[in-house]
Amino acid sequence: LGKIKTEGDEPGVAVYDPGFTNTASCRSAVTYIDGDKGILEYRGYPIEQLAEKSNFLEVAYLLIHGELPTKNEYETWQHEITFHTFVHENVKDLMQAFRYDAHPMGMLLSGVGGLSTFYPEARNIFDTEARHLQIVRMIAKMPTLGAWAFRHAQGKPYIYPDNELGYAENFLAMLFKMSEPKFVADERLVKALEVLFILHADHEQNCSANAVRSVGSSQVDPYSAVSAGIAALYGPLHGGANEAVLRMLRRIGSKDKVPEFIEGVKEGKERLMGFGHRVYKNYDPRATIIKKACDDVFAVTGVNPLLEIAVELEKIALEDEYFVSRKLYPNVDFYSGLIYEALQFPPEMFTVLFAIPRTAGWLAQWLELVDDKDQKIARPKQIYTGDRTLDFTPREQRW
Ligand code: ACO
Repeated sequence: LGKIKTEGDEPGVAVYDPGFTNTASCRSAVTYIDGDKGILEYRGYPIEQLAEKSNFLEVAYLLIHGELPTKNEYETWQHEITFHTFVHENVKDLMQAFRYDAHPMGMLLSGVGGLSTFYPEARNIFDTEARHLQIVRMIAKMPTLGAWAFRHAQGKPYIYPDNELGYAENFLAMLFKMSEPKFVADERLVKALEVLFILHADHEQNCSANAVRSVGSSQVDPYSAVSAGIAALYGPLHGGANEAVLRMLRRIGSKDKVPEFIEGVKEGKERLMGFGHRVYKNYDPRATIIKKACDDVFAVTGVNPLLEIAVELEKIALEDEYFVSRKLYPNVDFYSGLIYEALQFPPEMFTVLFAIPRTAGWLAQWLELVDDKDQKIARPKQIYTGDRTLDFTPREQRW
């Protein structure tokens, strides 16, 4: 606790809460999480039902609009998203200007930030029609930018969207299409990608949603606010964790090395990546669904040999007092990297695969922020720990 002044010299009390572990920054009706029970719901619908029975575009509609679409609303939404997948050629030039080995998240971040300059009307954040158009554009263009960032690292020509394909299938085509005119993806892989997109679509006030809201509270355009979310997601403790999980599994090397590795974690040498969560103090419900999706994907691609090490890690950790007492369970990232690798994505692309569907959640959070009359510009307090009222000595007298 730190003392602040409320009125005149009257001291008040401020809460010192680094990382906002116990501070609600907003009221929200988008996503509900009960971390102790392992519950996740979008707009009241359990994640398990959405992953099984819905598709990503319907879930994106639900997050943005607050309710499920009618047939008509869904068809209009699908049509709008499908016909905004192309990006301006100058954005393509921007992407192509990056170094051959640029991290795709850095490219995505710049590409999305750059889009704001192509749509100046995006600054009219209180104009409902204008902002609907930006939301459609952003959800539609993310797979295009993400796929181009992927092709860039491979030195391959960028592939334009095919508006006859569905959302996930179109993304796969822009990633993997070779010279043949028609791309046909395995239906099981398309379904697995849809499920992964649904699981990653929102997660209430996580680091990136908080970044979107914090930057959005200055009333900047949504492209700039979402690029702040992408920047937050770029970090290894947030979206980068699945990339770190794979590096960790590879370093462990084999199942018999797992006990030794776990001892190192308990001694504080490093963290067990893909374990633990700020909110879930139980099994992350998304990890359960992803674990099942692994089977579907591996049936097509063949089993990822690192899976064996992951399963052993989970087994030992779930029985170990260190992890049990701290309520550390596998999170969404523990298994997602294994699937992405089986789908032939390099680790740098994993966070891009997270950012594409999370754009729907970021925009739902942003819309809620813009419409909330009680919201103010984000401006947390600090507890000042530095010096005061020092006398400045000019350089010539100090040196
Ligand atoms: N491995 C080993 N110990 C851990 C781990 C871990 N993965 N996570 C937390 N702990 C320990 C901490 O050392 C601490 O122990 P102590 O009380 O003895 O000091 C205790 O558990 C609490 O940890 P905090 O860091 O206070 O927990 P916090 O809620 O701040 O951190 C976080 C959550 C960042 C996710 C953390 O669990 C972590 O670093 N996990 C690994 C990275 C990861 O998987 N991130 C993905 C998160 S999901 C997502 O972003 C989509």
